[in-house]
Amino acid sequence: MTAERIDGKEVAASVVATVTEATKKLIADTGMVPGIAVVIVGEDPASQVYVRSKGKRAEECGFHSVTHKMDETTSEEDLLAMVVNLNEDDAIHGILVQLPLPKHIDEGKVIQTIAPEKDVDGFHFINVGKLGTGETETAFVPCTPAGCLVLIKRALGTDDFSGLNAVVVGRSNIVGKPVANLLLGANATVTIAHSRTKDLPAIARAADILVAAVGRPEMIKADWVKPGACVIDVGINRIDAPEKGEGKTRLVGDVAYDECAEIAGSITPVPGGVGPMTIALLMAATLSSACRAAGVTPPKI
Ligand code: GUN
Repeated sequence: MTAERIDGKEVAASVVATVTEATKKLIADTGMVPGIAVVIVGEDPASQVYVRSKGKRAEECGFHSVTHKMDETTSEEDLLAMVVNLNEDDAIHGILVQLPLPKHIDEGKVIQTIAPEKDVDGFHFINVGKLGTGETETAFVPCTPAGCLVLIKRALGTDDFSGLNAVVVGRSNIVGKPVANLLLGANATVTIAHSRTKDLPAIARAADILVAAVGRPEMIKADWVKPGACVIDVGINRIDAPEKGEGKTRLVGDVAYDECAEIAGSITPVPGGVGPMTIALLMAATLSSACRAAGVTPPKI
């Protein structure tokens, strides 16, 4: 079997198109313009790239978009003051503080200072608790896990995973745990596996839906995959690529793509799978926040 390649770029573009249309309608009907603020502290090059892409995508969607660039030496107090200001700013519906933060700043304290109703990353305890208790109508869900669910639902052609076994490899707060909760919410039977799990390949082989979020290049091999399974690769790992020339590198996921694609029913590539979905779902979360503020039902993504 050769798996269907799940095109995250195409699905992300369709999500952005839905958000853009709904934004036009929200503005026409209520005058409310969705607003997003992204805060970045320091000069981390990868973070700079992400933040630029977020700003660009927000403008494409027709949002009011602001980026606050703060110096590497910014104090925790000044960053907290910035967050409090944004909490109080009625033109802003989504606040994202780009992580990682410099070492002298307590990330947890910053995240818990963001107003839960503007926490489009879904990292605040209130949103984590809402997801854990199934209050997804009013929660914000972390964007990468939310993007994974959109891809799985489209690949399987259903929103209901009743009777399906889902295995999540990885137990991070940002991906593993929230994606497991979302799968459970869609009626899958969910196992969270991790580095201390006994016989990981056998557990993975029972999965109709296999989500890999471990950060280990090409760890998941063909004999870990159940024939016909839907395989979602959240990993983004840069490895040496001497075949491309000296000092060259390439991106790979946590799944050995070529060999697993022979066995799976559908599979996401890296890059071009889950990656593009994260920003698209951030836009959807910001629109939802603005819709909630305006008392309007957000579009279904
Ligand atoms: N850094 C890398 N990914 C993320 C994310 O999803 N949210 C935030 N705030 N920072 C990140």
